[in-house]
Amino acid sequence: MMNAPIGVFDSGYGGLTVLKALEKALPNHDFLYLGDNARTPYGTRSFDVVYEYTLEAVKYLFNQNCPLVIIACNTASAKALRNIQQLDLPKIAPEKRVLGVIRPSVEKVAEITKNGHVGILGTVGTVVSESYPIELKKWSGGNVKSVVQEACPMWVPIVENNEIETEGADFFIKKNIDIILDKDKNIDTLILGCTHYPLLAKIIRKYVPNNIEILEQGQIVAEKLIDYLERHSEIEDKLTKSGDIKFQTTESVDIFEGKASLFLGRNVKAQKIHF
Ligand code: DGL
Repeated sequence: MMNAPIGVFDSGYGGLTVLKALEKALPNHDFLYLGDNARTPYGTRSFDVVYEYTLEAVKYLFNQNCPLVIIACNTASAKALRNIQQLDLPKIAPEKRVLGVIRPSVEKVAEITKNGHVGILGTVGTVVSESYPIELKKWSGGNVKSVVQEACPMWVPIVENNEIETEGADFFIKKNIDIILDKDKNIDTLILGCTHYPLLAKIIRKYVPNNIEILEQGQIVAEKLIDYLERHSEIEDKLTKSGDIKFQTTESVDIFEGKASLFLGRNVKAQKIHF
């Protein structure tokens, strides 16, 4: 029988931080990770292009027999998910599902903020889309009163180029943190709204006062996915469970395998694919 894995899609490597939490939470499920490394980053691309690329990837993962696709990329979740769910899915695969990372994060933040003052750190694309403020308004049940955002365009390149332990990284991280804390001095919860930022968590913590909770998405997405699968047996029953995890990339395998270990903390074997 052909595997029916959970597809996990990201513009590149960053989604591996989400996959890491998913494989820990659902160790028996099969996963197929797809990184569009040849066309990364998405964070600076237009709405239309991110939508086009993401739809291509989702269709590809459906063809690989994934009943469910998690868009692990914030930028793609912000710019493409709604269209795919509402316009494309009914036409191309009404029995399949596509979920993103913004809604679970928004639900979690609404649960834990005490004073309703929330900060979002993300790519330019995620911030400009206003997806977080819009979704927080919709899904926080009135618990969130103020949302400020800050785009951190240097943070993804810092991680991608393995410049994490450098003075440059400290400089840019402190700069963006100072700006967002200045936008709202009462923030009590900060969302790391980009797949790459968990790798910078230690440095971010240095510049964020201890009374502010910092939310990393991997754990949250995993928690919410378990809950989703409990409520949606029509999807859960289709997923195969042999603990198999495959990695595919649109870039060269050598490049992917070299960098993936930084995100996953272990070596992996990948396969190059074309859409
Ligand atoms: N994966 C993207 C995100 O979470 C960051 C990398 C990119 O810009 O493509 O927003």
